[in-house]
Amino acid sequence: MSLAIRSRPRRNRKDPVVRAFHRESDVGPQHFIYPLFIHGGDVDVPIGSMPGCSRLSPAGLFAEVERARAVGVNAVVLFPAIDDALKTPDGRECFNPDGLYPRTIAALKARWPDLCVVTDVALDPYSSDGHDGIVAADGRILNDETVEVLCKQALAQARAGADIIAPSDMMDGRVGAIRDALDAEGFTGVSILAYTAKYASAFYGPFREALDSAPRGGDKKTYQMDPANGREALRELALDEAEGADMVMVKPAGPYLDVIRRLRDATALPIAAYQVSGEYAMLKAASERGWLDEERVVMESLVAIRRAGADVILTYFARQVAERLAGVRPGKSG
Ligand code: PBG
Repeated sequence: MSLAIRSRPRRNRKDPVVRAFHRESDVGPQHFIYPLFIHGGDVDVPIGSMPGCSRLSPAGLFAEVERARAVGVNAVVLFPAIDDALKTPDGRECFNPDGLYPRTIAALKARWPDLCVVTDVALDPYSSDGHDGIVAADGRILNDETVEVLCKQALAQARAGADIIAPSDMMDGRVGAIRDALDAEGFTGVSILAYTAKYASAFYGPFREALDSAPRGGDKKTYQMDPANGREALRELALDEAEGADMVMVKPAGPYLDVIRRLRDATALPIAAYQVSGEYAMLKAASERGWLDEERVVMESLVAIRRAGADVILTYFARQVAERLAGVRPGKSG
């Protein structure tokens, strides 16, 4: 017998063709920025809490970028592990033109001029205190003094050939200051991707292990945002827009989908979302135990981020997912 139900949403789910008609969100390699860890050593060093990711040697980096490009991932963001001997309280190694980071940018751009190289601006990899800014004697993080160093860092990256500069430090006023510094040297075509709503999150744990960059003292709560807050993200958005950001970011992604949506509804700028190391580690760990189906949960996590309103996703799964979409059989991951 049939009930008098005239509207049956299930009719629009009845087969793959009909489902595809009205699918609202998609995920492909064109949406990815692939975060890669680099170091000066000549072997790749696997990261324990991020299976499939390593601190890459120069040769390892080139091989990984080659593989990613082969399946359509043509944007990378680099994070350096810096020798302890080069770390100082003011992080000055970050603007050394001969340092690991600028050298790597230049080498990538020389090999692949059309590769989109996104660079990280923040002091933590270079800071003997493990903070994104300069730490004063009393433990405070100095804002304006830090911004001066960040501008030098951004310029060193632009001179080396960076396409998009991404400040992840959360100091006030750094987007405008970096924009001015870039423009003053003629880098008007270099973009800024602002970490607009970056939360003081415990999901960064594996990343800090990867770079050995955990704060030596205190935490990052005086500059990164309180996970309890959504409205504050709109305030940061207004400032970053006014200061000239080309794109804005929400980070982490999965636990902050509502924040992505709030930004989506409030700005015409492209939005990026960073599926961070802890999100990656969770999905990998549960999959390794056979508790979750890796392929399916990874896709679902990424589609959800797109559905929330992100244009671009920074994800450690970028190459893996792109390979699967391209029909490449899973191999040993880099
Ligand atoms: C620091 C930085 C962090 C991440 C990117 N840039 C960690 C932090 O703020 O302590 C985290 C990324 C991840 O967890 O994948 N400038």
